[in-house]
Amino acid sequence: MELEPLQDGHGRLIGDLRVSVTDRCNFRCQYCMPAEGLPWIERDSVLTFEEIARLVTLFSSMGVHDLRLTGGEPLVRRGFPRLVEMLASIGGIDDLSVTTNGFLLQRDAEALVRAGVNRFNVSVDSLQQDRFYELTRRDALPQVLAGLELLATFPEAHPIKINAVAIRDFTEEEALPFARFARTTPFEVRFIEFMPLDADQAWTPDQVLSGEEIRAAIHEVYPLEAEPRERSATARIYRFADGHGKIGFINPVSEPFCGDCNRIRLTADGRLRTCLFSLNETDLRGPLRGGADDGELERIIREAVWLKELKHHVGEPGFIQPARSMSAIGG
Ligand code: 5AD
Ligand code: SF4
Repeated sequence: MELEPLQDGHGRLIGDLRVSVTDRCNFRCQYCMPAEGLPWIERDSVLTFEEIARLVTLFSSMGVHDLRLTGGEPLVRRGFPRLVEMLASIGGIDDLSVTTNGFLLQRDAEALVRAGVNRFNVSVDSLQQDRFYELTRRDALPQVLAGLELLATFPEAHPIKINAVAIRDFTEEEALPFARFARTTPFEVRFIEFMPLDADQAWTPDQVLSGEEIRAAIHEVYPLEAEPRERSATARIYRFADGHGKIGFINPVSEPFCGDCNRIRLTADGRLRTCLFSLNETDLRGPLRGGADDGELERIIREAVWLKELKHHVGEPGFIQPARSMSAIGG
């Protein structure tokens, strides 16, 4: 059944839902998790596949057409390809993507593509094995690259995007290697500015390496030309002037793109977040398990979405970092 489109109080239509299917992860990236990990959400509190499918069905009848599955690391959730299959069959979802650290792609790429994933974002923060280890605390670069190579053999999975978090005094050295990588492989590399979503709450503004700084450094060696920005897109895309591939910059800190944000998020324990930086969230699991019908769930969702934050306040005085880190929110 088609319902009224989901809209917030600032006139933005919500078309993109990101579902975190687990807060667990097999990596410990410095900008996300502490070395010892985090207290995981209790298993009973994690939404079942059936619960996720019911909520996604409801969201899709309210106009959500893009679905992104994230974690933690989504591929560590047991039976994940089966969940993908359930969600791919929901009418109205025309884009089903997965954000992954790539570690388990060799095992799962085929099953995920067959189940209906049509786009992948793979996180790779360094192309040098020792520096990859330093940042993720896992010596896994060769395995991730092998997973990427396998993924690239499936035409249905393209375009494949690579996300590198940009951190001052680390990522400068990665800019040109990633530019060459983007020019010589089928992968679209995007740098994403380090945001205050680290569990250690150690983020400071001076640790952000801006997209503009990286773009300028690459442009000196490989001239870049801007592509037009698509509506609600997070990345600014540039093509290499000589026609060899593209590279992108996601600049949430230096150039916030909240104005046409069409995204909301569902955590693994069934809470709706209307912004990465929300300080409050709306419980959907309680009503869902308490027997709420779709009409009641719809009312709760609409009320929460109506209050979606106008913009984030990262870098402004008085900014408060949310208690959840990225791994418990879902990228
Ligand atoms: N700042 C920016 N990006 C982050 N990610 C995780 N934590 C942060 C952070 N603090 C990225 C990951 C992955 C996606 C889920 O979010 O690298 O690409
Ligand atoms: Fe895991 Fe992703 Fe967080 Fe790294 S950024 S620790 S891969 S959830």
